[in-house]
Amino acid sequence: MENMELPPRPKLFDFHGVSMTHYFTDNWENIQNFQARPDDILIATYPKAGTTWVSYILDLLYFGQTAPERQTSLPIYERVPFLESDFHILPPGTELADKLSTSPRLIKTHLPVQLVPKSFWEQNCRVVYVARNAKDNAVSYFHFDRMNQADPEPGDWNNYLQRFMDGKMVFGSWYDHVTGWWEKKQTHSKILYLFYEDMVEDTGRELDRLCSFLGLSPSTEEKERVRGGVQFDTMKKNSMANYSTDPVMDFKISPFMRKGKVGDWKNHFTVAQSEQFDEDYKKKMENTQLRFRTTI
Ligand code: PPS
Repeated sequence: MENMELPPRPKLFDFHGVSMTHYFTDNWENIQNFQARPDDILIATYPKAGTTWVSYILDLLYFGQTAPERQTSLPIYERVPFLESDFHILPPGTELADKLSTSPRLIKTHLPVQLVPKSFWEQNCRVVYVARNAKDNAVSYFHFDRMNQADPEPGDWNNYLQRFMDGKMVFGSWYDHVTGWWEKKQTHSKILYLFYEDMVEDTGRELDRLCSFLGLSPSTEEKERVRGGVQFDTMKKNSMANYSTDPVMDFKISPFMRKGKVGDWKNHFTVAQSEQFDEDYKKKMENTQLRFRTTI
């Protein structure tokens, strides 16, 4: 969609200790009171960690065969509602989720663990969390914010990187997000914690982990079909999976399916930036066992 009148970019503000924009807080009462069902599957991520990839994998695993028409008629963001979103051009995520007729319902969230509606825990829902190394995550988020009118202006890369380190991003600090969910996993058995780097390295292996977590046993053929369908190049061409139907994104600036690589940070960080980042990272992450790979 072109030439659509877009609202100005939103401002960041502090929301219960997390940087947010109004798009994710306007509907807060309904978000907090959202009624999860026991078979709901929550796909939770810090933005740009591989949300769409895992959403599409789950959608194909559950509905690829039973509802093939979904694949050609509904963009992924309508199949897998974004719980806390309220973009005004679509119904709010809570409403889209309530209207889903599928079982299970697949629901996306970027909320840090402490802000997730309590009924997901009460209903003991399964959660698939995906984490991506901080450097690539920051680069991907930077390019996304350049082209996505629904996020604040990113400014230049150097300032953006400082903001990332300061946790002044939409959905707050990457460091708090990945460690918060990691801690939760230690006491909640129904969280599968996946890494973007592992998925790039061996998608088939991670697909097997997902299936065993979800209690699914697709045939070898079916698994191959899913694996083929979710490859970066295939997804990039798929208008129902690549966000090309989203009017707030300007693909002329940068496409949603941008590179899909591990280690692209090396094309963005200067040596000085990388050293400073690593030093700060060590301090911020010293109390966690959580480890990431920045190359594979
Ligand atoms: S969002 O807006 O938070 O939902 O974005 P998200 O889907 O989490 O992240 C987008 C990045 O994931 C990459 N991506 C993939 N990489 C490899 N393989 C596949 N199939 C795939 N699908 C999406 C996408 O390209 C974005 O990363 P970058 O590094 O910007 O390319």
